[in-house]
Parts: sequence; structure tokens; C-alpha cells
Amino acid sequence: TGYVTLDPSFMNTAACYSQITYIDGEKGILRYRGIPIEDLVKKTMFVEVAYLLVHGELPTEDERQKFSELLNVNSMLHEDMRHFFDHFPAGAHPMHILSTMINALAAFYPNVDLKSMADDIDVSTARLISIVRTMAAFAYKKSIGDPVVYPRHDLSYCANFLNMMFDSPVKPYQIHPEAVRILNILFILHADHEQNCSTTTVRTVGSAQVNLYATISAGISALSGPLHGGANQEVIEMLKLIQADGNVRKFIDMAKDRNNPFRLMGFGHRVYKTYDPRAAIIKKECHAYLEKTNYSDPLLDVARQVEEVALTDPYFIERNLYPNVDFYTGILYRALGIPENMFTVMFALARLPGWVAHWKEMIGGTTKIVRPRQVYIGKTPAETAEVLARREL
Ligand code: CMC
Repeated sequence: TGYVTLDPSFMNTAACYSQITYIDGEKGILRYRGIPIEDLVKKTMFVEVAYLLVHGELPTEDERQKFSELLNVNSMLHEDMRHFFDHFPAGAHPMHILSTMINALAAFYPNVDLKSMADDIDVSTARLISIVRTMAAFAYKKSIGDPVVYPRHDLSYCANFLNMMFDSPVKPYQIHPEAVRILNILFILHADHEQNCSTTTVRTVGSAQVNLYATISAGISALSGPLHGGANQEVIEMLKLIQADGNVRKFIDMAKDRNNPFRLMGFGHRVYKTYDPRAAIIKKECHAYLEKTNYSDPLLDVARQVEEVALTDPYFIERNLYPNVDFYTGILYRALGIPENMFTVMFALARLPGWVAHWKEMIGGTTKIVRPRQVYIGKTPAETAEVLARREL
């Protein structure tokens, strides 16, 4: 009909029906497949949540074992892919390495296009969830010049990751159950968040029937942005600046200044107009973990002060700006020994089940290729006629 609705950045447009995740941004509610995140962090492991998101139900014991086995047998990186790591420049950001490597997976495991993968979908998704963890740990080992540590079949998903990150021939890594518990919680809380920028990217790219790995690689690129998953690294950089300066109020005022591009990283959210329920859990766990492990991080105090000053300031109150999931995660990652340039990679690992669940829901439904319209505001033929007339053939 020629009639289109303009909704820049899709602030008010639902692009699909979905059964995966429910958010109430006014009340601060987040549920996966109907189950509140508060219950999931108490009663489940990340691998079970991954299964829940991808398959729609929490696994039975039998299903959990089969899924874990599938993750185990698919955890090895093709040996030839290991050499790729040697050719990235020193200091390359692990998110760039990760998106490139995931894209390359389709070349090594070519049967992931939609035509050939009908009965392969469980293997392809398990490979993705498992192998990306191996890639992430290898990228870290490469960045510090250490030999890589291969995945182990006897370890749980999170313990395996920590072991691949920190074990070394000269200093064996002692897996601490509390560290594994915290990582499980962090991963569960990041596992899905309905139509955020990276998930929308996955649905959009996937709607062109692009193979699963290239689709997820696009999602990872979207996640790397500082307004999205990249914020967790930026929060720590900001907290360090504030700590060095000592003047919290100055930074709050900078964030309020419309002529200053500085924003309070880890604050504000497109959907939550109240405290992000994930941030509430992470803040509590962060405090408890630091106390239990006798790990003191002065940045926790800085973060608390920033929160206190911001939440009593009219600018933040009027705009409903509260801490989001990224505000306290970095402090926990630091306590686990994860370096800052790996923070967004951690987010990506955790978000994989969500992306895969949305991709599966999308390809299993009736979604047509995503193709928004626009409102053209460029030149008319009358405005270009003169230029054309002046041109000689
Ligand atoms: N610091 C200062 N002012 C802010 C902030 C902030 N962190 N966030 C929003 N505002 C202001 C903004 O300037 C605007 O003011 P005004 O109405 O006077 O123009 C108002 O609040 C609304 O902000 P917006 O940018 O229109 O909101 P949005 O829904 O487009 O953006 C956001 C949401 C998360 C991108 C934004 O809040 C932001 O940039 N936050 C900092 C980055 C961050 O923490 N990102 C992680 C998001 S949660 C995890 C994830 O998605 O990966």
C-alpha cells in the first residue's frame, strides 16, 4: 500500500512471537521459559539452563547426561584451527578473534546450512556451545603466550572453562567449587534477554537462511559494542578512572552533561525502568563471594558509591536509570582472575544458548526474511536533473 510506520531503533516494534524469555521492564521481572531467574540461579546449573532455553524444558536426569555427553564429545577444536590463533596480532581483542573463529567453523564443519542439517541440529548447537568455550580459553592462552590446555571430560561446563583458562604445566590450577558456583550464576543470568541487539542480529541474519555459525558470529559482533556487551569491560575502566580521581560526584556530573559524550557505563537500559533483576542478584553475590574468599577489591566500594550518588540524583531518578547487568559483573570476573579484555567474551559464552534458542525458534516458525522499510528523504529526480544535464556522454 506504500504505508509504512517509522520506528527508528525499533523502540516500539515487536518483530516476532516468542516463547523463550519474558521481561517486565517496569517490575524488574525476567523469566526463561516461564521460570524466574531467581529460582534458576538457586536450583540449576548453566548447562541445564542452556538445555531449557534451546529445548523448552529443563532436562530430565537422562537428558542432562546425554546433553553433557554431546557437549563433551564436541568440545575439541579442529587441530588445524588452532594455528589460526598464531596469525592474529599481539593485543588483538579476544572478541574479534572469537567472531572470526566462529565464522571459520562453517568451513570446517560445512554441514550447517539449513538444507543439510535437519537431523544434525542438536550436534551443531552442542558443538557451538561447547567449542566456543574452548576457543575463548585458547584465545586467552595465546594472548599471554602460554600453551593451550585441552578440555577435560571429567569436568562440568564451568569448571572445564576455568581449568582451560588457568591450568598450566608449571602451576596446576585448583578448581574452587565456589568459583564454579559463581560462574554458573553469572552465565545463567546472561543466558538470554529476548530481543536485545545481538539476538535481533541473530534473528535478522538467520532469516536469510545463513548457516548457524556465520549467524552467531554476526551476533558476537553486535555484542562487542560498548552500548551492549562491551559495557562490562568499560565499567571496570570507568571505575578505575573514578578511583584514581577520587571524586565520584565529578563523574556523575559529567554523565549528566549533555555536551559531554561520557555516560555512566553499566547504567540504564532500554527495557528496565527499575533495578535490573540480574544486577540485583550479581550485586548480592559479588559482596558474598568477595567476603567468602577474603578477596578485597577497592573497585567494589567505588561501584557502591557511584550507585548511591546516582540513585539519589534527580537526573537518574527522572530517567529511571539504574545499574544494569554489566555494573557489578566485572568485579566478580576480576575476583575469578578473568582479565578485562575477556569480560565481553564471557558474556558471549553465556549468551550462546539464548542466540541458538532464538535461531531455532525462528527457523522452526514462519519467519520471512527480515527486511524493514524506510522513509526516503533523499533527492528527487527534479533535484538531480541539472547535474545530469551538465554531464556529457
Ligand atoms: N549515563 C548517563 N545518561 C544516560 C545513561 C547513562 N548510562 N543512559 C541513558 N542516559 C540518558 C540519555 O542521555 C537520555 O537522556 P535524555 O532523555 O535527556 O536525552 C535518557 O537517559 C534515555 O537514554 P537513551 O540513550 O535514549 O536510552 P536507550 O534505551 O536508547 O539506551 C542504553 C539504553 C543501555 C544503551 C543506555 O542506557 C546506555 O548507553 N547505557 C550505558 C551503556 C551500558 O551500560 N550498556 C549495557 C546495557 S545492558 C546489557 C546489554 O544490553 O548488553
